[in-house]
Amino acid sequence: MKLINILTAATLTISVASAQDIMQQSMSIMEQGMTQIQQGFLNNNIKLIEDGTKLVKNGNKLFSDKKVIGEYLPKDKKHMINVAANASKRIELDVNVLELNIEDKAYINAANAYSDILNACARCHSIVRSW
Ligand code: HEC
Repeated sequence: MKLINILTAATLTISVASAQDIMQQSMSIMEQGMTQIQQGFLNNNIKLIEDGTKLVKNGNKLFSDKKVIGEYLPKDKKHMINVAANASKRIELDVNVLELNIEDKAYINAANAYSDILNACARCHSIVRSW
């Protein structure tokens, strides 16, 4: 293989790998966040809820760009890009609702926002996994 081909192959591999990292990083951060929020609600530990919410917010930011999300949709699901991107938008809004309700000590409403985040995770997963 010519050097230029090797370089091209290496560049392609790196860009594919880092694109994949973004999704995996995002999902892993959100998973941690959701686990913490759940533990927080179950054990009445507000700090855990707050910390977990920040993780979900940051993780979601990594995977909210339509172009990035589109790269992870299966070929036959590309037309669902708006639904997928809306799931991420919904998480962003729910995170705000959750935070405001925690500030107001409205824990039931905060827990409902948490449930809605979980539904939004499932909404996008149902597309990428053909559930
Ligand atoms: C906009 C789409 C989208 C949203 C919203 C979304 N995910 Fe994902 N998720 C994906 C994709 C794409 C994959 C990779 C494909 C697969 O696992 O089927 C994935 C995979 C995962 C995985 C497995 C990771 C891996 O490395 O295999 C976890 C855990 C996960 N998501 C957690 C979450 C959590 C928690 C939320 C909600 C807070 C969430 N996701 C919301 C698209 C999304």
